[in-house]
Formats: sequence, C-alpha cells, structure tokens
Amino acid sequence: LKEEALTAIDQVSSLDHLRELKVKYLGKKGELTAVLRGMGKLTPEERPWIGSLANEVRTELEETISQKQTNLEDQAIEEQLKSEKIDVTLPGIPMEVGSVHPLQLVIEELEDFFIGMGFQVAEGPEVENDYYNFEALNLPKDHPARDMQDSFYITPELLLRTHTSTTQIHTLEAKEGEVPVRIISPGKVYRRDDDDATHSHQFTQIEGLVVDRGVSMSELNGVLLALIEKLFGEETKVRLRPSYFPFTEPSVEVDIYHPVKGWIEILGAGMVHPRVLERTGYNPERYTGFAFGIGVERIAILKYNIDDIRHFYNNDLRFLRQFKSE
Ligand code: PHE
Repeated sequence: LKEEALTAIDQVSSLDHLRELKVKYLGKKGELTAVLRGMGKLTPEERPWIGSLANEVRTELEETISQKQTNLEDQAIEEQLKSEKIDVTLPGIPMEVGSVHPLQLVIEELEDFFIGMGFQVAEGPEVENDYYNFEALNLPKDHPARDMQDSFYITPELLLRTHTSTTQIHTLEAKEGEVPVRIISPGKVYRRDDDDATHSHQFTQIEGLVVDRGVSMSELNGVLLALIEKLFGEETKVRLRPSYFPFTEPSVEVDIYHPVKGWIEILGAGMVHPRVLERTGYNPERYTGFAFGIGVERIAILKYNIDDIRHFYNNDLRFLRQFKSE
C-alpha cells in the first residue's frame, strides 16, 4: 500500500489530482484509515506492530503529500510569472491624445492676456434669476431692449443667461464696495435663435469688468486695442461704433476688418452705467468703470478661418483634429 501510494503521489502533476489522492489514502474512508479500523480483528500480538507501522506509513504519506503540494504550488507560480513577464524593451502602444477645442484655445489665450494685465477670472451660473440677467443691469421688465435678447425662460423668474454680463452684478455684490474690481468671466450664454451658419442658440462670451477711482473711456480703448493687436496682429484695422446697451453709457461696438468677410463685430463695451454701480453699492460719484463682452465664436471664426458656427458644436473629429498641438 505504501509503495503504491508513494508512486502515485510522485506521478501526480496537478494540485487537484493530489487532493484526490490525499482523500483516497488518508481520508475518512481512505485505504490507510481502513487498515487502522480493521485493527480490532487482529490478535493482541499483531496489534501494536501493525498499529505503529500504519502510523509510520501515515506520517510518511502526509509528509510526502505536503512536500509535493509545495512543489506543485511553486511550479504554478513559476509558470504564472513566466506567462506574465513584460518585456520592457518592446515599444509601447501609443495613447491617442485629444485636441483642445478651438473655443477653449481662444478662451485660454484671452485669459493669459488679461491675467497678465492684472485681471482675475470669475465664473457665474448659466441658469439665472431675472434680476441678474436684466433687472440689475438696468433692464426693467417692460424695457424694450429685453427684446434684443430673446430668452429661454425656465420659470417667469428663471432663465438661461443671455449674456455673461450677469457676472458683473455677482462680482460687484461679492466685492461689497471694495476696489479695484478687475475681472474677466468666460462662459456659455443662450438666446432663442434659428441655428444656421452664423447663428447659434448657445454661444460663448467673455465678460470684462473694471471698477475703480478714475477709470476712463480711454483706458477701455487702450485695453481693447492691445487685445486685438495680440489676437490678430498690429496691422488689424479696428473701428469703434457708438452703440446702445442699457448697462453702459456711453456704449460702443467694436469691429475688426477681415480681408474677405469685411467688417465684423467682435464685442460690445462701454462705461458702466451709474445705476448699475449704485444698485450694487458703489457710489457713482466716486467710482467709474468699464465693461465689455467678447464674442468668442466670432474671434475663433476669424482667427482660424472657420466658415460655419455649427462646426464648434457638431464634434466632428475631422474638424476638431485640426487643432491638435504638436
Ligand atoms: N452683454 C452684451 C451683449 O451680450 C455685451 C456687453 C457687455 C456690452 C458689457 C457692454 C458691456 O451683447
């Protein structure tokens, strides 16, 4: 029995099989156990001799089995390591890196520019109270200029902001009468519009706001000209047209000249209306300010020669991949 068991154990090559053998010889119904059970039928002289022999065999089998088990386990680990070995000298699988969206490129370029001029970047919510979108910006409920910006209303008091000028109010409220105020605020805005090559119901603006003692129209002029020079080069032709916004007085619109498209408006601006200052706790006798709202799509269209505003939103990879940086 011992010889048979030892040969079987030696030939085993899997852990499962080894477990089976262990049950076969040493288990409750195993062959060796049967020998020990059968002891009662032996003569008293035979008993101690057979007993100690059986126990010896048992110990030897147990040892052999556990030895074998360790060997098999080591082997299994060895094999696993071999199969999982990584050759670090092989070339890697290249990961595809996306590209920065052209609108984001423009936003980042403008942020860099304004941060360099001492501005901070502020953000505001896209769902707004009527108060922040209109009322506080000197556009009371019956004001005809509300029609300039057809809005998406959620409730009679809540709407998707039609411009980033909302952040002027949030900023001034938060500053609680402190100066200087010098922020820009990029973000999405929404207006009811039929989408086509030049219109989109959702687009992007960057608001700018400066409030301090003695802020003047010529400072606004200087900032805007520096900005356009940075974006489009020194040679760019610029024109300021008098315009109207209820929250600035005087107000201007700024166009730049494009060799193919002609004059294109890129932003609205003006001196902060005294009523806006007053409402947010700034004394208009002491402080003045200017504000501007830049159309980010307009800038991107001119800068990258894009022929359809819908390209910005269709997420066509053939379009987006053109903005990959090296
Ligand atoms: N909010 C205006 C618009 O969306 C732009 C603007 C901003 C004008 C700030 C003046 C001052 O058309």
